[in-house]
Amino acid sequence: MKVLTIIGSPRKKGNTYKVTKRIESKLLSINSSISFEYLFLADCDLKMCRGCFCCFAKGENTCPLKDDLNTIYEKTLQADGIILAAPTYAMGVPALMKNFIDRLSYTLHRPCFFDQSFLAVSTVGGLVGLKETLNQLSLLASAGAKKSLKVGVPMPPISMPLLENKAAKKLKKSVKAFYSSMNNVKRHKPGFGDFAYFAAFKTMSQFESYKEECPADYEYYKEKEAYFYPVKGMRVFLSKVLAPIMRLSFKLIAKDTAST
Ligand SMILES: Cc1cc2nc3c(=O)[nH]c(=O)nc-3n(C[C@H](O)[C@H](O)[C@H](O)COP(=O)(O)O)c2cc1C
Repeated sequence: MKVLTIIGSPRKKGNTYKVTKRIESKLLSINSSISFEYLFLADCDLKMCRGCFCCFAKGENTCPLKDDLNTIYEKTLQADGIILAAPTYAMGVPALMKNFIDRLSYTLHRPCFFDQSFLAVSTVGGLVGLKETLNQLSLLASAGAKKSLKVGVPMPPISMPLLENKAAKKLKKSVKAFYSSMNNVKRHKPGFGDFAYFAAFKTMSQFESYKEECPADYEYYKEKEAYFYPVKGMRVFLSKVLAPIMRLSFKLIAKDTAST
């Protein structure tokens, strides 16, 4: 079992790193054979996203930036668990982590992390902005990942035992859930929201104008039937019901847009 920890703090061995080391020792106490790799975004050659849309439209291989992104991406696919860790800076993730998320945001159009469990970790001085940061850190896990967990750790400048004890309990619980998810070979069972997500993108990818603008999405969805990966029984039924509804909604919206 492999865990890849991606640290998005400019302070490489700062509070966030210390918390991930705490998580590592908790995981090792559950299963001593887990292997860990730490990747510090501060050490990576990761250029700023230029917003050219090449990855979304023509495919990630057409990104003009030549740097470490592909190597990092391959590592994420080989990991069973991904810990995305960053401090809260000005009520959100630091620029290093934001750029990393931006660079992989095409995976929200064409999801790929179906066999990975995610744990988002953020440390904060106060508690301001923690929720926002954890939501940003969880974005890449939002399309079909096995599990998406969040844990916030306050590191106040003055000791606050009540707050710290509560956070320690939450951390312990989240680590256990993260381990169980990695240990479970089954993929996430999609629900209504997941099917709606799939149906929205599949429908959109089949519109003639979209097909021309975004052939990468069209190619990705054309072979996929009910969901991103094979599903059975009632789930196939749910998907079949949603597909025409989604098509109709898109047609109505497109008509409205054209007439205004
Ligand atoms: C530029 C900057 C902005 C920060 N903004 C916030 C914030 O919005 N809310 C908060 O609670 N703490 C904030 N903090 C405190 C950090 O989140 C906290 O100290 C964190 O544990 C630092 O982690 P690190 O050592 O891994 O960088 C900020 C710190 C810095 C340096």
